[in-house]
Amino acid sequence: MRVSDRFDSAFSAVSWGRLPNFGCMASHTPADGVVADVSDLVKRYGAGATAVTALDEITLELRRGEFTAIMGPSGSGKSTLMHIMAGLDAASSGTVRLGGVDITALDDGDLTELRRRRVGFVFQSFNLLPILDVLGNVLLPFELDGRKPSAEERAWIDRLIDQLGLRNRLDHRPSQLSGGQQQRVAIARALATRPEIVFADEPTGNLDSRTGREVLGLLSDASRQHGQSIAMVTHDPVAASFADRILFLADGRIVRDSGRLQPEEIATFMLSIEAQR
Ligand SMILES: Nc1ncnc2c1ncn2[C@@H]1O[C@H](COP(=O)(O)OP(=O)(O)OP(=O)(O)O)[C@@H](O)[C@H]1O
Ligand SMILES: [Mg+2]
Repeated sequence: MRVSDRFDSAFSAVSWGRLPNFGCMASHTPADGVVADVSDLVKRYGAGATAVTALDEITLELRRGEFTAIMGPSGSGKSTLMHIMAGLDAASSGTVRLGGVDITALDDGDLTELRRRRVGFVFQSFNLLPILDVLGNVLLPFELDGRKPSAEERAWIDRLIDQLGLRNRLDHRPSQLSGGQQQRVAIARALATRPEIVFADEPTGNLDSRTGREVLGLLSDASRQHGQSIAMVTHDPVAASFADRILFLADGRIVRDSGRLQPEEIATFMLSIEAQR
């Protein structure tokens, strides 16, 4: 089944919402190439003796078209950083901007709309909707936005489905899929609308090496050919070596902000961080 066959039945009326005018609130404009940034970001969980500082004064800019890998030991704050930068979780203190807009100042409705239009997110735990089949999950961002994909978007989604090897699983529910297949659905969903920025939390964690390379190729193409920004958490030095930039986190801080590195250099640096714990 081609994706187009399902569109007309799958969608209700097209209702183009309008993004609020965020221009006056921007301190970064799209022209300076910053798509997401945080300053003095702190995230604390709990209070008193059991408090955990998951993020400890992080200042960081993600630039247009850049493919950034985020690495660090388990518990170093990678997922927390991605969730807060994507507007999915609130900071304890500090500033968080998406496309120059201070999202801490937005109400829930405006934040949801901004996120829906600009951000794709691949969750570490996939977060697929169990009642929807594969195609329904991939098309969910359009459904939530109350619109149908354009002809060009349909062609792109068809390509994603083929490249991610999901063609013969389109009408399966998540519970009928393997972990790696669910992960590929989550990736297709995050890329379907070609959002300005894609946050992917260990997107190759459950994939075999061939499928993993396919996913890394898709993410590289998204940044090189389509100018999308990619922030990808990974524990895999080979996956991180696909990125233009690598951020290393330890104990909630950025301990190194590097350009492209070879897998061996990445592995050596990770070992040095882990040795200090
Ligand atoms: N809801 C929560 N309540 C309390 N502590 C939390 C919560 N979520 C995360 N933490 C703590 O914050 C720290 C950072 O967690 P986070 O999930 O960001 O780590 P991570 O780098 O993504 O790790 P992993 O590689 O294992 O996915 C950890 O010490 C974790 O225990
Ligand atoms: Mg994590």
